[in-house]
Amino acid sequence: MTEQKIIAAVGATGAQGGGLVRAILSDVNRGFTARALTRNLNSDKATELAKFGADVVAADLDEIESLKRAFEGAYGAFCVTNFWEHFSPEKELAQATNMAHAAKEAGLEHVIWSTLEDTRQWVPLDDNRMPTLMGKYKVPHFDAKGEANQLFTDMGVPTTFLLTAFYWDNFIHFGMGPKRSPDGTLAITLPMGEKKLPGIAAEDIGKCAYGIFQRGHELIGKTIGLAGEHLTGTEMAAALTQARGEEVRYNDVSAEVYRSLGFPGAEDLGNMFQFKRDFNEIYCGARNVEVARGLNPELQTFDEWLAQNTSRLPLG
Ligand SMILES: NC(=O)c1ccc[n+]([C@@H]2O[C@H](COP(=O)([O-])OP(=O)(O)OC[C@H]3O[C@@H](n4cnc5c(N)ncnc54)[C@H](OP(=O)(O)O)[C@@H]3O)[C@@H](O)[C@H]2O)c1
Repeated sequence: MTEQKIIAAVGATGAQGGGLVRAILSDVNRGFTARALTRNLNSDKATELAKFGADVVAADLDEIESLKRAFEGAYGAFCVTNFWEHFSPEKELAQATNMAHAAKEAGLEHVIWSTLEDTRQWVPLDDNRMPTLMGKYKVPHFDAKGEANQLFTDMGVPTTFLLTAFYWDNFIHFGMGPKRSPDGTLAITLPMGEKKLPGIAAEDIGKCAYGIFQRGHELIGKTIGLAGEHLTGTEMAAALTQARGEEVRYNDVSAEVYRSLGFPGAEDLGNMFQFKRDFNEIYCGARNVEVARGLNPELQTFDEWLAQNTSRLPLG
């Protein structure tokens, strides 16, 4: 039997990295095995991964030596940061730098960097259509990830740049689910006009990442954008209506209104949706459903995702 190649998965207890670990370990013919990185070996999710067959190891993105140890002897690594834990683009950049350094030192053959666009390439800071945030960003949680791409390239890390999309799971976990208006009707609120929003089941991101590793060196140096479907707010509301058996409306607000909603990250997300709306052709063009399905034949549509998840949506 040929030796299995180890993939070190950052964020293994989370959505993206977890999907990758489960995809690797579910593959009966696998040439790969999963090393799951976490800061807390004793969490329920870490324990679950170990039971599933992952080699669970301790690592912290803020401690480069721990990353070097966790990457040692691996063939590849899946690298992701969690902006929403700290809301700091500088921290994301520092963590990406640590991962790129550790990957280089470990001599990894293939790294996937889970990234997003540096929106400043299209909306420079002096473009007043949306406010500049934190002094030098338009969409902080996008811009720092995009800025970090160059770190991997400059360090000569053999990297595939993975452009992810809006998780439909945000309707469950991120407070974006249908909410009941004072008049009693349910509605989702998005500042997207009638433009399409590429979305994906979060679990499919890891499955697609596994597809990228399985292609060998073919996708190194390439940018791969994922989506399960591109849907308008109206189309998503119609699908939610069908799934819930109760009308869900699409509440199309302006980006200004969205930015002022007051929850942590509202300005960042308001700018993000505005970027997706105003540069819709570029944003959608970078996320290809057929490419994603080629990497992951089980890729879900929104209706398929809803069939599995409607009962988990907030009750409004
Ligand atoms: N929500 C969306 O629609 C969407 C769409 C595209 C991209 N994204 C991006 O996805 C990223 C989050 O990924 P996710 O959703 O897969 O994460 P998640 O489910 O929120 O889980 C976060 C993961 O990051 C790990 N982590 C965080 N800080 C760490 C550190 N210092 N050292 C080691 N591990 C650390 C956690 O591991 P432990 O706690 O076990 O250590 C956990 O596994 C965000 O940056 C976001 O911008 C989100």
